[in-house]
Amino acid sequence: MTKMHNKKSKFTPTIISFVCNWSAYNILRKIEFRLPANMHYVRVMCLGRINPSFIFKAFELGVDGVLLLGCPPGECHYNFGNRIAEEHFNIANNVMHLLGVEKERLSLIQVSNKDYLILVRSMKKFINVLKRVGPNPFKIDTSEKVWTP
Ligand code: FES
Repeated sequence: MTKMHNKKSKFTPTIISFVCNWSAYNILRKIEFRLPANMHYVRVMCLGRINPSFIFKAFELGVDGVLLLGCPPGECHYNFGNRIAEEHFNIANNVMHLLGVEKERLSLIQVSNKDYLILVRSMKKFINVLKRVGPNPFKIDTSEKVWTP
């Protein structure tokens, strides 16, 4: 077993999740936000509100994965926000591919209010994928002292 493998197996990914108020947020509320360690969420009124710059900023700030949790097709509270979210997800994925960032670091999960098991399983699967992929290579090590003149 290599040193790198050991490092990855102990690795706990930091995840930011953008959560739609009308679907996944209700599930998180029911489970009283007992989220895995290092998983943080931002509540939004519709996932269509999120654009790719939010995703890239999160990666720039050092998260290992970004999870988009929105309403399934036909259930968006604002009719077409989830379609916009899908478009933004695809744009972000394409840019990540161009930049050489693993596409597994970004996931879109669409669940309705009642899809508790689907959400929990999907979140666990995403965390396991991130553990395999490893830390964000673009993370800036803030522990190093920055030289100032
Ligand atoms: Fe949930 Fe639009 S209201 S994705």
